[in-house]
Amino acid sequence: MSVYDLLRPLLFALPPETAHAMSLRAMRLAGATPLTRAALHLAFGAPEARPVEAFGLTFPNAVGLAAGYDKDGLGWRGLASLGFGHVEVGTITPRPQPGNPAPRVFRLPEDSSLINRLGFPGHGAEAILPRLGVDRPHGVVLGVNIGKNKDTPLEQAAEDYTTLIERFASVADYFAVNVSSPNTVGLRDLQGREALDALLAEVVETRDAVREGLGKPLPVLVKLAPDLDDAQLDDALDALLARGIDGVIATNTTISRDGLRSANAHERGGLSGAALTRMSTRVIAAIHARTSGRLPIVGVGGVMGPDDARAKLDAGATLVQLYTGMIYRGPSLAGEVARACS
Ligand code: FNR
Repeated sequence: MSVYDLLRPLLFALPPETAHAMSLRAMRLAGATPLTRAALHLAFGAPEARPVEAFGLTFPNAVGLAAGYDKDGLGWRGLASLGFGHVEVGTITPRPQPGNPAPRVFRLPEDSSLINRLGFPGHGAEAILPRLGVDRPHGVVLGVNIGKNKDTPLEQAAEDYTTLIERFASVADYFAVNVSSPNTVGLRDLQGREALDALLAEVVETRDAVREGLGKPLPVLVKLAPDLDDAQLDDALDALLARGIDGVIATNTTISRDGLRSANAHERGGLSGAALTRMSTRVIAAIHARTSGRLPIVGVGGVMGPDDARAKLDAGATLVQLYTGMIYRGPSLAGEVARACS
């Protein structure tokens, strides 16, 4: 029995967003100095794990923290010290916004899953930027996940994404273009053939312009939903390949609700955790087959332990990420998975 097995009932007695805010505050404190980071790393890290090369970057290990846990870049230094080789902050929007009304995160304990309909609450680009550039923990890769504000019309969405690339280019190691969260009305329409092609044309133009000045790889990945049918997935992948996108993150949360047992299963929003594991692995395998391995894949969705991560790597992923697994299995999960995947 781990310490987290004892702690979990206490955390689960709190509303999910309260428990999350507490854990983020702890990570912020623990990550504030090199000494406390070293202590965390000693307790949880995976120094013996093998580095992974992808999209021109070197990752210290194969496991990253998925977007959404640290939306505002508050605790990423501490989180990185838990053994994650990369941390993806965000989704960041250009302007601050409150997100949807609470309650908006729901535990599904019988399914080891969560449903959220947060809708990108966040402090906005200008508040977050200064938190990312200074005091960088050695070796950790920092991803910046970007999205559009709720009140930005879809026709002007590209400007939100390109503004964010320009603003964060100096601090980001890679960008994740989020067009797949189910909680911002119309966002997932940006995955459609024409909309995605038009968006990525502008994104890639901006990427190329800023990275020339910076002299670093600055790869741009696109994060896709698990709910696309075969034709929609083909369209999206065609656009990614045609526009020279560097990689794909598969997948975001799902709007499907198959085989759930928990009382909260009817809540609206995106489903993550164990209920998503097989679905996202199937999407990874499909992407790998359809692109003949030409597009590096970050596999995410229901990684609750080393076996789930290995299944995603076996399906064609180069890296994996997790979020909900940490809620159910605790802070030692990252190191455990990183060691098992090297
Ligand atoms: C997320 N996820 C997410 N993804 C994203 O691209 N931007 C975001 O802001 C968020 N926010 C968010 C909040 C919460 C509460 C959860 C649970 C998830 C999706 C996340 O990054 C990941 O793709 C899915 O959760 C699937 O992975 P797990 O959680 O099953 O490991």
